[in-house]
Amino acid sequence: MTGLLEGSVALVVGGAKGIGQGVVERFVTEGARVGVLDRDAGALDALGCAFGDAVRTIVGDVTTPDAHERAVAEVVEHLGDLDSLVTCAGVFDFRTAVGDLEISRLSAAFDELFAVNVKSALLATRAAMPSLRRRRGAVVLTASVAAFHPEGGGVLYGSSKWAVRGLVVHLARELAPHVRVNGVAPGGTTGTSLSAPAALDASRTVASDPGRDERIAAEALLRRAATPADHAGTYLYLVSPLLSPAVTGMVVCSDGGRGEPIASEEDAGGAVEVDERFWRREAVGSNLRDGGGRS
Ligand SMILES: NC(=O)c1ccc[n+]([C@@H]2O[C@H](COP(=O)([O-])OP(=O)(O)OC[C@H]3O[C@@H](n4cnc5c(N)ncnc54)[C@H](O)[C@@H]3O)[C@@H](O)[C@H]2O)c1
Repeated sequence: MTGLLEGSVALVVGGAKGIGQGVVERFVTEGARVGVLDRDAGALDALGCAFGDAVRTIVGDVTTPDAHERAVAEVVEHLGDLDSLVTCAGVFDFRTAVGDLEISRLSAAFDELFAVNVKSALLATRAAMPSLRRRRGAVVLTASVAAFHPEGGGVLYGSSKWAVRGLVVHLARELAPHVRVNGVAPGGTTGTSLSAPAALDASRTVASDPGRDERIAAEALLRRAATPADHAGTYLYLVSPLLSPAVTGMVVCSDGGRGEPIASEEDAGGAVEVDERFWRREAVGSNLRDGGGRS
């Protein structure tokens, strides 16, 4: 790795599992010390065991202002002022249509989903602002492919992720010129436990969705479902003052590429036939269908 974050301090909100955990792992590998706020105490313990002093864990519900204030205070006291804040906590609506929800469940699902996906990012930024200003730091919020394309989720999830894009644009303006604010919009990702709000079905997670990875791969130009580690470098780029000093108010898509629907499996070179060397950054030819060799 590059040591790009050597000596820096980060707070990852919703970092105990999934994409946030991938960010924590990458940031630690790059030399950062990382505070992690999450409600999953067991997963936080596992992270603490894996990374020792490099990680400080805080248990809390990200929909409450108190959790963010405690997390920032604890990280600043024990690790130092924040160079970066990353927000990853999220819940998913599993594409539930508005017409399929009776009004009371719709109202409860909206409140919970927007509290986790949108309000938590605003509360985290508000709590971290003074510390980030002292360090000329950076904020990265997690949006989604659903903030650009309606097929990425249902109306609740999609509109919450459009709101995250709104937060990025407004907060970039408010926190300038000292703090940069950007977003990452992951596409469908494998190896996470993204779950539904309680009002829909809290026990439902994407991990138990049969055929999901294959569907994601079929929709992406790069023909593969990304992993949390695949997105982590995009977060690293956006928090690094060396790599992105002039970038603020932007949302970077990390979704494997979206484009014209592929007409058939034959046209696509096989539904999930991907040369894994591409993802491992090894040299491959321009035409994977012809066996991956250079012509
Ligand atoms: N998985 C995907 O395909 C995908 C695609 C695009 C965007 N995203 C976004 O990426 C982010 C991370 O999702 P993931 O797939 O890694 O999910 P995940 O469930 O694996 O991770 C989310 C983390 O947030 C925590 N969390 C949720 N609600 C919380 C609360 N109220 N208080 C404290 N912690 C809470 C969970 O405990 C978990 O550790 C979310 O914002 C999600 O919308 C995910």
